[in-house]
Amino acid sequence: MKAIILSGGKGTRLRPLTYTGAKQLVPVANKPILWYGIEAIVAAGITDIGIIISPETGQEVKTKTGNGDRFGAKISYILQDKPAGLAHAVKVAQPFLGDSPFLMYLGDNLVQSDLHLFCEQFTTRNLDALTLLCSVENPSAFGVAKVDDDGRVLQLVEKPKVPPSNLALVGIYLFSNAVHHAIASIQPSARGELEITDAIQYLIDQPKKVEARQLEGWWLDTGKKDDLLEANRIILDTCLQAAVGGEVDEQSQVIGRVQIGSGSKIVNCTIRGPVTIGSNCHLENCFIGPYSSVADQVTLIDADLEHSVILQGAKVVGIHQRVVDSVIGQRAQLKEAPQRPKALRFMIGDDSQIELV
Ligand code: G1P
Repeated sequence: MKAIILSGGKGTRLRPLTYTGAKQLVPVANKPILWYGIEAIVAAGITDIGIIISPETGQEVKTKTGNGDRFGAKISYILQDKPAGLAHAVKVAQPFLGDSPFLMYLGDNLVQSDLHLFCEQFTTRNLDALTLLCSVENPSAFGVAKVDDDGRVLQLVEKPKVPPSNLALVGIYLFSNAVHHAIASIQPSARGELEITDAIQYLIDQPKKVEARQLEGWWLDTGKKDDLLEANRIILDTCLQAAVGGEVDEQSQVIGRVQIGSGSKIVNCTIRGPVTIGSNCHLENCFIGPYSSVADQVTLIDADLEHSVILQGAKVVGIHQRVVDSVIGQRAQLKEAPQRPKALRFMIGDDSQIELV
C-alpha cells in the first residue's frame, strides 16, 4: 500500500501565520503538524509516501521535511499546480500511485487512533473505499456521512446546510484503484473543485464496497487558531517527555513535564509543565505556564504566559499581564515600556488579531 499526504492549500483560516508559510508546517508542541501524519502513516506500515505540494509553499515543505530518511520512509513530492480539490490532487498523484491501493491523509489533520487497524480492515474486506468518521457538534463545517448499521456508507455530502447525521468525514481515507475511474467520471462542484466526497458517492452509486469506521479518541483539524491551541494542549498532555537540556540557573524552578532544547538559557524563571521550549532560546524573569510551546531562538524577558504557542525567533519583552490562549508568529515582537504605558504602538500584519482583555 502507498500513501499520499495533501499539503497544499492556502490556509486562509490560519492567516496571518500562513501568509509566510504552509499551514501544515505550523508547529504543534514544536513539531510541524505534517510530521505527525507522516509518523502515523509509517507506524501503520506504509513507507512509500507522496506529498502533494502547491507552487506557493511546496519548496518550504520539501526543504523542511526531506526525502523521508528521518521517518524511515521514502518521500516523493508531487506538484498540484492549482487548488482544484481533493479529488484533483488524487488525479495529479495517479502516476505515483499506479494501480496500488492507497491511504490519503489531509496534512492538517491530527488523530489519536492507530491507523494500522483501518488499513488491515480495508484490505481483508476487499473494499474500494474506507472513510473514517467522527461525531461532531458542527457537522456543517465538514463532509458528512449517512451510514447503515453494518458500517456501509449510504450517502456523503460536502458541508451540507442540513446535515444527514453528526458524523463528519475525518481527513483520512483508504482507496482501491477504482477511485481513479470515479474521479474521471465526476464534474467540478459549485465551488469549482473536484470533490473527493463526489468521487466516493460515485463509488457508492456503482455500487462498489464503501464502508466507514468511527474513530475512537480525539481528532483535530488544525485549520484555525483555537484548534491549533487545542492540538498543542492535547499533544503536550499525552506525548511530552521531560528532558531538560540547555542551562537552567539556580533561581529558576522547573516543575512537572518540561522539555528544554540545547543552547537555551533559563534565568530566574518558573516553568510549570507540560511545556516545551526549543533550542537557543533566552528566557529571563518569566513565568511559563502549562500548555505552552516555545519554538527555537525565542526571547522571553519579563514575560508571563500560559496555554500559548510562540513561533521561531519571536520576542516578548516586558509584558507583565499574563499572555494566554495566544499564537505569536515567527519573528514577531511584543514589547512594553518599563512603567505603565502611556500609549500603545503597533505594527501589525494583515489579518492579525489583538485582544486586550
Ligand atoms: C476537507 C474535506 C471534508 C473533511 C475535512 C476534514 O475539508 O473536504 O470532507 O471533513 O477536510 O478535515 P476542508 O478542511 O478542506 O474544508
